Amino acid sequence: MAMIALKCPEIEVVVLDINEARIAAWNSAKLPIYEPGLQEVVEQCRGRNLFFSTEVEKHVAEADLVFVSVNTPTKTAGVGAGKAADLTYWEGAARMIASVSKTSKIIVEKSTVPVKTAEAIEKVLKRNCSDSNVEFDILSNPEFLAEGTAIEDLSKPDRVLIGGKDTDRGRRAIDVLASVYAHWIPEERVLKTNLWSAELSKLTANAMLAQRISSVNSISALCEATGADIQQVSRAIGTDSRIGGKFLNASVGFGGSCFQKDILNLVYICESVGLSDVAKYWNSVVTMNDYQKQRFVERVISAMFNTIKKKKIAIYGFAFKKDTGDTRETPAIDVCKGLMADGADLHIYDPKVEEKQVKRDLITPKFEWDHPEAHATPSGVENITIAKDPMDAVTGAHAICVLTEWDEFKGYDYQKIYDSMVKPAFIFDGRNILDHDKLREIGFVVYSLGKPLDPFLHGSYN
Ligand code: UDX
Repeated sequence: MAMIALKCPEIEVVVLDINEARIAAWNSAKLPIYEPGLQEVVEQCRGRNLFFSTEVEKHVAEADLVFVSVNTPTKTAGVGAGKAADLTYWEGAARMIASVSKTSKIIVEKSTVPVKTAEAIEKVLKRNCSDSNVEFDILSNPEFLAEGTAIEDLSKPDRVLIGGKDTDRGRRAIDVLASVYAHWIPEERVLKTNLWSAELSKLTANAMLAQRISSVNSISALCEATGADIQQVSRAIGTDSRIGGKFLNASVGFGGSCFQKDILNLVYICESVGLSDVAKYWNSVVTMNDYQKQRFVERVISAMFNTIKKKKIAIYGFAFKKDTGDTRETPAIDVCKGLMADGADLHIYDPKVEEKQVKRDLITPKFEWDHPEAHATPSGVENITIAKDPMDAVTGAHAICVLTEWDEFKGYDYQKIYDSMVKPAFIFDGRNILDHDKLREIGFVVYSLGKPLDPFLHGSYN
């Protein structure tokens, strides 16, 4: 929304949330989320044509276009638990929009929602609006930005997708939204589709991206077992222009608010329409991701003589990727839980993630993170310490696990780190970002994911 305000000075944008603390933060010098470049964009537009408010009903009533970006978490109970999307917040938003509307509006679906949500939402809107002159046009306009590069992605997107009804009214609504994007996006990059194609494209794009990572991660296990090097394999296959070089980095697992959730949604939709083989196919992308996290935990335990009980282990990085403080579905959660289950004493350092967030993540049950009311208080996590700096985390530690690819991890003084650790000193690089040869020269036992194993580690794995 801030990007629309920036690029379209004549359009007034009001960002609405019922959460007062959140809106107060948006109106303050410390925004509620960290995203490179966002602060500058907000400061340039705030008070000019960008406003943040809790007066939801008033501003919705005045709007011509309403973008709905409410949470669509994975259901934690009932039919489809663990897979289907919970549309409670979406339905609530639709009922509110209907009840306050006195003029016709275009409603734009921004949240990732399962295919055919627009149809259901339209019914809710129509049946709950008392004014028969008011009409609603529903569009699907999925967001493809990635965290950490959001401003760049929004300024120069590969494409903007607008789905609408295949009727004159539907096409007119698509054109209204397209005219907003036309302020800064070349016409050929705005793809117009029907509603269902737009919704399904978002799920499919995320599923395909995640599938690339799971495919590479599956091969990383084979590389370790056979002596091949996953970075060499990725480079070799990425030069095939049909495959392309992006998204082929082996890792301890993918995380983030979208990949797993969207795949599980796709799986659920396939099951609902009786396509169980298709459902199984996509589900295996998630299974492989879980396997990769578990494999990492087992590698740490077996390398350290099959016991990590009471051993201090430093965790470098908790965010799901670098340049963000976001921890949703971060692989660090499952890895830390796995190490904690075997009694390790974890000292976690992340440049951006706050202490209470780490503790909350390590006690919150799976899928509950996206339910605003479900946030537990961070108590009951005894054997973890949140380190204030990277040296605190490693002093007296037996091992370091690198779980996020933060650039600053590459620049540390590893000789000093080595000298402060218990020997043998282990490094498990779950992102392959460190200089492994240099670390070995210093004296570390290094596990580099998907690469030929250190002689020290040979035979240690089950
Ligand atoms: C993703 C999609 O990229 C974006 O288009 C969509 O709108 C939202 O979901 P995001 O979750 O912000 O964006 O991050 P992304 O950069 O896609 O990374 C997702 C996860 O995959 C991270 O945990 C990352 O570390 C991991 N990853 C990515 C790998 O493990 N290897 C890779 O090669 C690339």
